[in-house]
Amino acid sequence: MELTFWRNLAALDFFRWKTSQNSGPTAGVGEKREHLYKILVIGELGAGKTSIIKRYVHQFFSQHYRATIGVDFALKVLNWDQHTIIRLQLWDIAGQERFGNMTRVYYKEAVGAFIVFDVTRSATLDAVVKWKQDLDSKVQLPDGSAIPCVLLANKCDQQKEGLVNSPNKMDEYCKDKNFSGWFETSAKENINIEEAARFLVNKILQNDQIIKGNGAQEQSDGERFALNQSPTNTKKSCSC
Ligand code: GTP
Ligand code: MG
Repeated sequence: MELTFWRNLAALDFFRWKTSQNSGPTAGVGEKREHLYKILVIGELGAGKTSIIKRYVHQFFSQHYRATIGVDFALKVLNWDQHTIIRLQLWDIAGQERFGNMTRVYYKEAVGAFIVFDVTRSATLDAVVKWKQDLDSKVQLPDGSAIPCVLLANKCDQQKEGLVNSPNKMDEYCKDKNFSGWFETSAKENINIEEAARFLVNKILQNDQIIKGNGAQEQSDGERFALNQSPTNTKKSCSC
């Protein structure tokens, strides 16, 4: 356990260094643009954060539960379009960290987040608001606004409990709590994880363009296509 902690700490330093080396997109003539984005994955214990990341990055799922200690990392490389490579640095923060005092350190320089809850346990949805408050109070975009955050209703391959049974109420909930959107996901059945990630990356790219003042002209065809996909449309394709 101690070994894991030190390994993670070393990785944390490495990623911090990497982030500072890649503060913006880079592109020369005929070269590809590269973006490095730090994304947080937070939520209650056992909600499925690690499983979602493993599915997204390694196409792997296990029923076996081993609680994350502190924080873990994964890197997902997206060939976004023919001119753009996006590297997503995924920070998998242990559910138990809500009661610790490290989240401020972990959240630093993040530009997007997923908050995950377990649809079979409504108590994990009750805790979502506490995670959102923790997030918004500790990390902001350079202009002071909240970082885009997408709510993931995970384990939708199972019987749902509470509010998540009413999509309209969930829409209202997200609007009220300032989520960019929400998706029903299943790490087990590989439902909606890619879609949710694409949705969040689009939000991040939009913010990047606003901040850098590049405007809509820099939007690629791929982005324009994805921006037209609302989370609601994607949800309909969910077989839950
Ligand atoms: P902490 O690290 O303690 O914060 O938990 P976590 O949020 O990382 O949860 P984890 O991914 O370890 O998953 C907890 C348990 O839920 C494991 O037994 C997983 O196999 C199971 N699980 C995760 N996602 C799904 C899913 O989509 N469907 C089903 N049926 N089980 C899932
Ligand atoms: Mg975990």
